[in-house]
Amino acid sequence: MAATSVAVFFGGPSAEHEISIRSADSLIGWLSAGGLAVGAFHLRRDGRVGTATFAPLTAGDGEATALSRARPASTHSWGGALESLAGGKFDAGFPIVHGTLGEDGSLQGFLATIELPCVGCDVLASALAMDKQKTKSLLMATTELRMPRGETIAPHEAADEVGLIARLARLALPLIIKPVDGGSSYGLSRVTERAGLPVAIRLALGVEGSTGALVEEQVVGDEVTCAVIGDAARGIESLPPILIRPHHGGMFDLEAKYTHGATDEICPAPLPPSTLARIEAAAKAAYRAIGCRGFARVDFILADGVPWFLELNTLPGLTRESLFPRAVRAAGLELPALFRRLVEDAMHGSRARAKAAR
Ligand SMILES: Nc1ncnc2c1ncn2[C@@H]1O[C@H](COP(=O)(O)OP(=O)(O)OP(=O)(O)O)[C@@H](O)[C@H]1O
Ligand SMILES: [Mg+2]
Repeated sequence: MAATSVAVFFGGPSAEHEISIRSADSLIGWLSAGGLAVGAFHLRRDGRVGTATFAPLTAGDGEATALSRARPASTHSWGGALESLAGGKFDAGFPIVHGTLGEDGSLQGFLATIELPCVGCDVLASALAMDKQKTKSLLMATTELRMPRGETIAPHEAADEVGLIARLARLALPLIIKPVDGGSSYGLSRVTERAGLPVAIRLALGVEGSTGALVEEQVVGDEVTCAVIGDAARGIESLPPILIRPHHGGMFDLEAKYTHGATDEICPAPLPPSTLARIEAAAKAAYRAIGCRGFARVDFILADGVPWFLELNTLPGLTRESLFPRAVRAAGLELPALFRRLVEDAMHGSRARAKAAR
């Protein structure tokens, strides 16, 4: 029997393009080590699609051989790429394009259109979770979760600086400003005086793909993140929470995220069992309310033992050093086996939905 074959999409137009390549690089390694055949689709910045195929790894190849394989040499127009996608060669699609296209529901909708089961969240959950403020509005209405107050500023509102400052007067300083739909801490800043708001808002709006600046009250406390896997039909499980301590003592910014050794990421988080249980329950509540499936990672600030929700990432980083893979290992799970299971779940889920629709 031919091996199950997965189309992995990565790259994309957002500021997280390079991070997505690194995520795909390790993901392709884990999928091949899990016995799956992989077709790589690199969504390049020039609009072309780079493709390559990888056979399943045999014992002894090791994961390392996947390194640097994710930059295919041959490129196509979308038409060419579509032909190979629609030819029945693949059993599932796995978008790992962080941000625009991959995390906002677009690629998920594209895969649904060409009837390829999609690993991870569907269109609605992806699109919703992409907007941090709309996600909080939903969670506020449907869960008991705590979360910071915030307001989104659209690009056309940024020029009226006096109006902006008046409108944001209801929010207490210090304030955190970030793209409402961005990731990886691009365009992130903290202001302690209202006069600093216009510059911070412009910075957040200037990030590639940003459609608004989220101005949010700062929650003071320890940073924790919790990965969740599964779906409502087959059960939802949380993985051990991770405590994040940037050495510079500030926020989990770009430097703290991507400079080797700049942050302590302790997994499982050395916290009392009751606090860990609270974080895991909060992460699962958010995952359930948004309607996620497959996998996701939920970010919180822990203030006096209470997790305050910041955001849910439907396509969290999957580089070798990323938080999601660390949580998987800490749970005693193997990454190749987990990703294989997520692919199989996507295939079964899609068959079940098709059957229910008939
Ligand atoms: N309201 C807040 N209070 C305190 N710190 C915050 C707040 N919002 C953001 N931060 C800090 O900024 C970091 C990035 O924020 P957030 O997780 O919302 O965005 P992100 O850039 O999408 O992250 P990711 O890379 O996880 O997708 C957080 O990890 C935290 O350190
Ligand atoms: Mg985050």
